[in-house]
Amino acid sequence: MAAQSSAPSYLEPSVLGTKEYWDKLYEKELSNHAENPEDEGTVWFDDSDAEAKIVAFLDEREQEEQQQELAQDGNDGEGVESSNHKKGLGRRLDRRTASVLDLGCGNGSLLFALHDDGWTGRLVGVDYSERSVELARAVGRERRRRRRLGLGSDDDEEEMEEQGQGKKPETETGEDDDEKEDVSFQVFDILRSPASLLSPDPSFPGWDLVLDKGTFDAISLSPEIDPATGRRAFEGYGARVLALLRTGGLFVVTSCNWTEEELKVWFDGCSSSAEGGRRGAAKLKLAGRIEYPSFSFGGVKGQTISTLCFEKVGGD
Ligand SMILES: C[S@@+](CC[C@H](N)C(=O)[O-])C[C@H]1O[C@@H](n2cnc3c(N)ncnc32)[C@H](O)[C@@H]1O
Repeated sequence: MAAQSSAPSYLEPSVLGTKEYWDKLYEKELSNHAENPEDEGTVWFDDSDAEAKIVAFLDEREQEEQQQELAQDGNDGEGVESSNHKKGLGRRLDRRTASVLDLGCGNGSLLFALHDDGWTGRLVGVDYSERSVELARAVGRERRRRRRLGLGSDDDEEEMEEQGQGKKPETETGEDDDEKEDVSFQVFDILRSPASLLSPDPSFPGWDLVLDKGTFDAISLSPEIDPATGRRAFEGYGARVLALLRTGGLFVVTSCNWTEEELKVWFDGCSSSAEGGRRGAAKLKLAGRIEYPSFSFGGVKGQTISTLCFEKVGGD
């Protein structure tokens, strides 16, 4: 990561920074889900209602952008569609089209929440644990099955069966072959896999929205040292995110291990090490925050978790 003035103290490495830990956890969650399909596994920061707050934050940003665009198009004397099509851009936060990448997706819960909220562009979750990807796909299949059958929960299902409204037959494999996957998942190591693996085609401009809930937390607990720099490997995370975003794209990161001030040091102004010194180089710039209930302890005010939003600027 380029030019970070005074980096916060590093976190002591822990097992949460190892792939073995996550593989084991998701192995367990997979077997729980197989036993009880309603058990979708851990939703990180659920006690702070992080997921709902992130979705609400994105809804608000989308509306703001829509209003700005309408005002702009009004000034240009053009309709919304014609102006955007001319620029070949499209709004960056249009829920119908925005491409969304969730880094370290776990059980995929955040993307499912966005999809339930009407975000229907390209939604992709990635994780380095094959078990996590397996779990997220299984949860997605189960959700689609329930939706297809018009079911909310196991109770509804039992009720329908009691009323003689049996299930619609599934395919031989038990899969919902007739319904397209609305959220997809793939194995990807954020620190090692090439960003191009996540580009659907060579003309892809990069992701409109990159999300991280608890993943930078886990990565910054990894003991790994980057042989190229001799520094902790997690310090390259910001540059990796930058390479995945399109210009103007947003990165929304939620953490319990780092405060807002510390997240700013890691990400605000972050550029790729190769580009760092160049004028106009692409970098991340602080663009918003989510408010959580705060507490006071010993005269110091704090939050249990922090969510900051950064925009990729420059680099044109
Ligand atoms: C605290 S969990 C958060 C899971 C999910 N984002 C959520 O909010 O429920 C951290 C996730 O990061 C993933 N992870 C850690 N290091 C990673 C890496 N280098 N590449 C991809 N995923 C990673 C773990 O497998 C785990 O699923």
